[in-house]
Amino acid sequence: MFLDGKVGVVTGSAMGLGKAIAIALAQEGADVACLDIRAAENMETAQEIRKLGRRAVDLSCDVADKNDVRRAINHVMREFGRVDVLINNAGVYVLSPMVGADFDRITDDYDRLFAVNTKGTFLCTLAVVPIMLKQGRGEIINVVTNHVKRERYHAESRGHIYDATKWAQLSLNETWAAELKQHSIRVNGLCPAATDTAMLRSVMPNPSPEVLANWMKPADVALAVINILKQGPDGPAGESYLIVTRKDAEKLAGKLAPA
Ligand SMILES: NC(=O)c1ccc[n+]([C@@H]2O[C@H](COP(=O)([O-])OP(=O)(O)OC[C@H]3O[C@@H](n4cnc5c(N)ncnc54)[C@H](O)[C@@H]3O)[C@@H](O)[C@H]2O)c1
Repeated sequence: MFLDGKVGVVTGSAMGLGKAIAIALAQEGADVACLDIRAAENMETAQEIRKLGRRAVDLSCDVADKNDVRRAINHVMREFGRVDVLINNAGVYVLSPMVGADFDRITDDYDRLFAVNTKGTFLCTLAVVPIMLKQGRGEIINVVTNHVKRERYHAESRGHIYDATKWAQLSLNETWAAELKQHSIRVNGLCPAATDTAMLRSVMPNPSPEVLANWMKPADVALAVINILKQGPDGPAGESYLIVTRKDAEKLAGKLAPA
């Protein structure tokens, strides 16, 4: 298996995309550190990974808290001694319309979304990059959103805070890719469209069968992660792949950097 002997760190691993990605890494041979604030569900993810014959640790970690992130990555190093793959996936989504907004509520939403979606990505990467630099190689994948693909998607009026956090995350993705490429650390982004998780169901609780048919499954996005990793050190960096269907995930296999 191509990830035998490798160690992956996945944030937001208790459910949804993060859980599917953590399990997919293990299915390819990786040992996995699962970081989440939902202890019970995160423990289940780790148990599923152990059933696959891989090692797993579930760590209570609020990615927005620098002490939590420091502690978690120190724990991963004590347990596994290396980090080969970091998946910045933990995220939160709230609809916060401007019209009729309650000042206190919307400013709390703003702080929370930036803390988790943007600062969380920043802190985890900051903690892991020195390890990857020492190893001379690493893979970082940031789970962004299709909303940053303006050629396909218009700004969604009530999602202004969420989208702003994701544009900032995309900017980190591009800048890190440019700086870290020369150190053999590949940074790429994934921009999934609607995928059937608790997050999406929180804003669309009762999708019609037609709508549901267009939603991806978390495993489809996990396949995109695996196919980016399979591209290897010579694969593209600084990309932000739009994944709307499983076919988009399949197409990432074997893609090489432009000459
Ligand atoms: N589901 C979609 O349609 C969709 C589409 C595009 C992008 N995304 C992105 O994919 C990622 C995963 O989303 P999902 O749909 O699986 O969401 P989800 O709500 O189903 O799962 C999110 C996970 O992140 C964890 N989490 C939340 N705050 C955290 C924190 N502070 N520290 C650590 N963990 C925390 C939650 O406990 C949960 O396990 C997010 O970044 C989201 O923005 C989702």
